[in-house]
Amino acid sequence: MNVAEAVATRRSVRAFLDTPVPLETIKRVLDQARMAPSGCNYQPWEAIVLTGAPLKALQDRLSVSERDDPPEYDFSAPSAIDPKYHARLSVLGRHLYGSMGSGRGEKDNREAFARANMVSFGAPVLLLCHFPKAMKEAQWSDTGMWLQTIMLLLRGEGLDSCAQEYMGVYGRSIKDHLGLSDGTLLFCGIAIGHRDPASPANNFERERVPLDENIRFEGF
Ligand SMILES: Cc1cc2nc3c(=O)[nH]c(=O)nc-3n(C[C@H](O)[C@H](O)[C@H](O)COP(=O)(O)O)c2cc1C
Repeated sequence: MNVAEAVATRRSVRAFLDTPVPLETIKRVLDQARMAPSGCNYQPWEAIVLTGAPLKALQDRLSVSERDDPPEYDFSAPSAIDPKYHARLSVLGRHLYGSMGSGRGEKDNREAFARANMVSFGAPVLLLCHFPKAMKEAQWSDTGMWLQTIMLLLRGEGLDSCAQEYMGVYGRSIKDHLGLSDGTLLFCGIAIGHRDPASPANNFERERVPLDENIRFEGF
């Protein structure tokens, strides 16, 4: 698979088969992803990767945990932004909730989505990315590049993924469960596994704005 194919075929997969993923595959991907760029070459990202019983134990813990209030970081969009961003989210919400079965109320849909996130959509592997709380915007951005590098390399292995900032909702419980210090920020999960090709959650059309809405070219 070339890079363009990996980019085009990556999508956020929200229904996984229970096919296990070998440790060697995960290690190969993470080893290759070490070459992701980072400002000043800080390589600020760190992660814990869980499967099997340890993953189940974490999910059991989360199922009886309170959400962080307030969360250690707030991944919702600022309220004072151009309404076009909210519009993009509501399009996604319609697709997501629609793929979970129409006719349910908004609250039921939200709860079903939260439950599905909590178990990483049935993925057999969960990567939990963290870094020291002292990291600033540039290092958060570096970490995002690392996460995307992983998700593209996973496509090269025939695997699928879904980034999960939702895990931040339970940041303190996750850190406590995994023995991470309070000076650590639980940033994001990546659910990893093989997509269920038949699930509507993996088949709705993903919308993107046209190129010229976000990019300006000059001097060509
Ligand atoms: C950093 C990050 C965190 C995300 N967190 C979640 C999440 O918690 N749950 C979820 O279902 N999708 C999550 N997503 C997936 C986005 O909703 C998705 O990338 C976006 O709608 C574009 O769709 P696509 O990834 O299928 O192309 C996350 C994506 C990113 C980049």
